[in-house]
Amino acid sequence: MDCMSLSEAMHNRKSIRGFLPDPVPKEHLERIIELAIQSPSASNAQPWLLAVVTGQPLVELNTRGVGLREKRAPVNPDVAPADLFGDYLRRRREVGIQIFKLLGIERDDMEGREEWNRKALRFFDAPVGIFIYTDGTLERARTDFDLGLLTEGLCLGATCFGLGTCIDQQALCYPDLIREVTGIPDDSRLTAAVAIGYPDWDFPANRLDSTREPLETVTSWHGFD
Ligand SMILES: Cc1cc2nc3c(=O)[nH]c(=O)nc-3n(C[C@H](O)[C@H](O)[C@H](O)COP(=O)(O)O)c2cc1C
Repeated sequence: MDCMSLSEAMHNRKSIRGFLPDPVPKEHLERIIELAIQSPSASNAQPWLLAVVTGQPLVELNTRGVGLREKRAPVNPDVAPADLFGDYLRRRREVGIQIFKLLGIERDDMEGREEWNRKALRFFDAPVGIFIYTDGTLERARTDFDLGLLTEGLCLGATCFGLGTCIDQQALCYPDLIREVTGIPDDSRLTAAVAIGYPDWDFPANRLDSTREPLETVTSWHGFD
């Protein structure tokens, strides 16, 4: 059942924001998680826990989440990213502009933008959503990095199975709803969410190939010459 090489998976992985409705076999998800939990963690603490959601609970989450958004309920993610600035903000804007351009959503099309935000809240209508969470009594410095490694492992493993993923922070806007529907503990810290399913290659936003700063810009070398 496995797979392409690691370098192929790293090369091929990209964020997928439009999915086919086809269900994902549970055995494939199990295999992907088995691979991802081989990720390293500080002191081998393995502070990760996963909740994999499909079917009726996912419909309930998506419907109630969108309902909260429509009521303008305050968003209160457990892990709230601080604002970006400078080049970081520029890169975020660039990716947003590229996505809206591919989707044909104009700058002043507020309803189009709002529907896109609702879709992001709904795991981009993927058949499966995975929440990655931890014991909220652990310090974030002990958990964010390790859960990030696991999340990358999930995305690469999924790529090997021909699945698409999008790490989807927007799906974490209403953590209390997620806890209620999944039964994960009140003292959990929901750190990441991943939409997963078979890519709909006709979906325009899936044509996006995000850029990277080149190796020379991000790397300095010491003692090589
Ligand atoms: C922590 C994290 C949170 C993200 N949250 C979102 C999100 O809420 N919505 C979205 O469309 N993409 C989200 N992404 C995907 C990034 O936009 C994407 O990884 C980046 O633009 C690079 O593109 P690529 O994944 O196609 O290589 C997130 C990625 C990460 C790592």
